[in-house]
Amino acid sequence: MANIADTLKSDSLEQHREVEKLLVNRIRNIRTVSDYVSLLQIFYTYFGALEKRIEKVISVKDLPDFNSRRKTDALAKDLADLGSAPQAMATADSLPLLSNQKAALGALYVIEGSTLGGGIIGKMISRQIELPAGLGLSFFTGYGEQTEFMWAGFKSSLNAASIDADDHKIVTDAVINTFRKFKLWIEQHV
Ligand code: HEM
Repeated sequence: MANIADTLKSDSLEQHREVEKLLVNRIRNIRTVSDYVSLLQIFYTYFGALEKRIEKVISVKDLPDFNSRRKTDALAKDLADLGSAPQAMATADSLPLLSNQKAALGALYVIEGSTLGGGIIGKMISRQIELPAGLGLSFFTGYGEQTEFMWAGFKSSLNAASIDADDHKIVTDAVINTFRKFKLWIEQHV
């Protein structure tokens, strides 16, 4: 059987494509720093709330470098650097239900995977607007040149977690719901 990281990729290709398409359209319409701040708020309010939920069920015991993978602080820093206060985070039905540690691993897969597209997004934004030197892109820059390395590390932790057939379905459903709810969240904040 293929490892879980590989099956998650194929099982969520469609949801990824939909989110990517929506974001690319949105990024193409960014004309001002304020437009970019609105995009950052979408990520901050969704990923930030998701991380709070994930932290309730996952710790360094499950993923040794869990803390250094958190994104909320980078997003808050980018907003602050661009002179904006973070908005209220997403709640309740706007988020996927993460009832246990396996479901949380699925949501983490989506958050970590976003670093693979983050560099592309950062470059697109730099072409659209002029940001103050060195500011506002720490979230999208992410792990920078370490991105592939960090992704490989995350996938090995995922593949090493003991996930049976029932758990596999829980993780996959969480991945799909995390993408779907994010798509809805973006659509609600146009
Ligand atoms: C403009 C937006 C985006 C672009 C251009 C983009 C692009 C990419 C690329 C190039 C990859 C690597 C594919 C590969 O190595 O085969 C990738 C993987 C991935 N992206 Fe995105 N992405 C975008 C947005 C997002 C967002 C917002 C999320 C999460 C909410 C996300 C989640 C993922 C995940 C989970 C993977 C890993 C797939 C795997 O298992 O290999 N992406 N993306």
